[in-house]
Amino acid sequence: MHLKWLGKCPDCGTWDSLEEYKPPTPDARKPNATADFAHGADAMTLDEIDIEDSQRTPSGIGEFDRILGGGIVPGSAILVGGEPGIGKSTLLLQVANALSRKQENVLYVTSEESAQQTKLRASRLSVESPNLLVLAETNVERIIGQIAKHKPAVVVIDSIQMIYKPDLPAAPGSVTQLRDCCMDLVYLAKTSGAAIIFVGHVTKAGTLAGPKIIEHIVDTVVYFEGDRFHAHRVVRCVKNRFGSTHEVGLFEMTGAGLLEVTDPGKLFIEQYGRGATPSGSVLTAAIQGSRVLLLEVQALTASSVIGAARRKTSGVSSDRVGMIIAVLEKRAEMRLAADDVFVNIAGGVKVVEPAIDLAIALAIASAHTNRPLAAGTFAVGELGLGGEVRSVPQLELRLREAARLGVGHAIVPHMSGNIPKLGGMALYEVRRLSQAMESQ
Ligand code: TYD
Ligand code: MG
Repeated sequence: MHLKWLGKCPDCGTWDSLEEYKPPTPDARKPNATADFAHGADAMTLDEIDIEDSQRTPSGIGEFDRILGGGIVPGSAILVGGEPGIGKSTLLLQVANALSRKQENVLYVTSEESAQQTKLRASRLSVESPNLLVLAETNVERIIGQIAKHKPAVVVIDSIQMIYKPDLPAAPGSVTQLRDCCMDLVYLAKTSGAAIIFVGHVTKAGTLAGPKIIEHIVDTVVYFEGDRFHAHRVVRCVKNRFGSTHEVGLFEMTGAGLLEVTDPGKLFIEQYGRGATPSGSVLTAAIQGSRVLLLEVQALTASSVIGAARRKTSGVSSDRVGMIIAVLEKRAEMRLAADDVFVNIAGGVKVVEPAIDLAIALAIASAHTNRPLAAGTFAVGELGLGGEVRSVPQLELRLREAARLGVGHAIVPHMSGNIPKLGGMALYEVRRLSQAMESQ
């Protein structure tokens, strides 16, 4: 809280984000998104609460349904975030089309593009359906009026940052406007049963002021990951009140819109194995939702000034890589203090699980010594601070996928006896990082 207006927020550093707070007058209380105070709901036991059969409506686009946990729940609010130009409008127009083909009424509100621009895009995507209504509007009250008039089953708001409420003094996209417009629409969703999908822009610098503040209001949050320079798009669910999170959807951007990728297979390792394997390249497998992705970890080290060595990563946390470098220094006697270290997951996928630690360590070690690993080297395992290689969840699932895609040998944590039978794949079980490095 600040007692006077400031151009720049001293806490988060954003410009023009401070707004005057006026305490609400008691009778001006707005309807809340989840409870209607005006009618004063009574407390009930769990038995008394009817479960509305939260039937999901599959959108008809399998990868989108996978992210949502099976389909769109009526009355729910979904936020789809991502960088500008990554494909949010494309995906949602395709979802709207697929839904309307299933006789669901869909209202597509475009607040950034004109109705004509949306039509042009729709014809590129060969979208045509009498059940799909397009509305170019930015005033939230008129949007609510149109929803009441047409009673669609699903409403897409592309994007929430351009929507405004006329009786608020703040500019569209400001914190107050975003929160109020979003609350009003979510309230409408809960009362009318229409599902609302919001589009929110996230910029690369991570100034998510927009979408972040409505994350807690909506039921489901999905983000486009990576950047628009890759042909494939990874869409990840980060919050889901109606299903599991961490599920990812895979798409490929083509001239005719986003195509679903149901079997990623070698999608992310396409470049691997073309020509001789360079040093610093290792294959690994990461679990993403209910699916295993085969990935390539790449590392590069270059001499630097002692004390100013850089550690740059893409796709993995730099803290985790910092820890792996420390383990390599202490437990494998590798001098990296004078080296810049770069680690990259090829293909723009983000991995948070520690199961790929061993692959990162082997990639850095191989880059540092400039000795390529044998072609097709695959490693999974979590690294402990003592240099021990720990077991990882769902190892068998990862190994099966690797074997299916033709990996010849794998370095894995020591398993006590229960070694899966995988046709043709040799397993090297290791207990320590040093063992894994010697196996090369
Ligand atoms: P868009 O959906 O407009 O992005 P967002 O709404 O997230 O800002 O995607 C725009 C990009 O996608 C644009 O660079 C062109 C590309 N694109 C295709 O490659 N094929 C297509 O069929 C369409 C509609 C877009
Ligand atoms: Mg758009």
